[in-house]
Amino acid sequence: MDFAEVTVVRGRKRLLDGVDWSVSEGERWVVLGANGAGKTTLMQIAATRLHPTSGTVSILGETLGRVDVFDLRPLIGLSSAALAAQIPAGEKVLDVVVTAAYGATGRWREQYERLDERRAFGLLHDWGMSTLLNRPFGSLSEGERKRTQIARALMTDPELLILDEPGAGLDLAGREDLVRRLADLAADEAAPAIVLVTHHLEEIPPGFTHVLMLREGQAVASGPIGETLNEANLAATFGADLKLTASNGRYTAVARA
Ligand SMILES: Nc1ncnc2c1ncn2[C@@H]1O[C@H](COP(=O)(O)OP(=O)(O)O)[C@@H](O)[C@H]1O
Ligand SMILES: [Mg+2]
Repeated sequence: MDFAEVTVVRGRKRLLDGVDWSVSEGERWVVLGANGAGKTTLMQIAATRLHPTSGTVSILGETLGRVDVFDLRPLIGLSSAALAAQIPAGEKVLDVVVTAAYGATGRWREQYERLDERRAFGLLHDWGMSTLLNRPFGSLSEGERKRTQIARALMTDPELLILDEPGAGLDLAGREDLVRRLADLAADEAAPAIVLVTHHLEEIPPGFTHVLMLREGQAVASGPIGETLNEANLAATFGADLKLTASNGRYTAVARA
């Protein structure tokens, strides 16, 4: 996925301002930035839900604007608060995941129904949801919802997985459970390229390889996480003097006393 000079203008505001970014196969990216930095806007473009005002985006070898986005979408798994809000509260967990395949299989889908169900069941099992297949989505805990959404995002066997703030709203144990599961996914060579959006360094799973840091629509820094996630770039990204600690692949940042 390649972004070149990507800009999104709404009214007088530049939500994104000349962003260059590229994500290759096998990479696991964290996108960091304060509230309002433009992270979700960038993810909407990556997920082909939004076109930039200017600049070019090519995703999996196709240039946005020159390709039918409905051909691309099954190749991109997305989990976001906006998508979760569209899931009816009464929809059963298994159906939340199975229906992600509908766009992909189209008119011949009756033949695939059993296969789809088996795949959805396998994914829900992987994400610790196998005892909750018939529960209405609206009755799940926040952690269960997030895991169901990730299983849904993986349903079409995408080449790119985008997780926009999957840790939002989780309690400490829920966050740690998610971080461990995402670290396992990151370590899986068969897993797609991953982009994880957060503003909490504690949510970065071990094994993530790269970081893009955004501030007010601009890329402050981007590159391999070991060299890019440093105190100078954190200060430039969050506008605060932060002390960074890294230990066993986990990160924290606190205000310097
Ligand atoms: N349609 C819109 N018109 C004007 N401003 C918008 C619109 N959508 C988002 N914004 C603003 O753009 C900024 C970036 O939003 P967003 O991409 O959601 O940031 P993030 O996900 O990093 O918090 C925010 O200040 C938001 O209020
Ligand atoms: Mg956001």
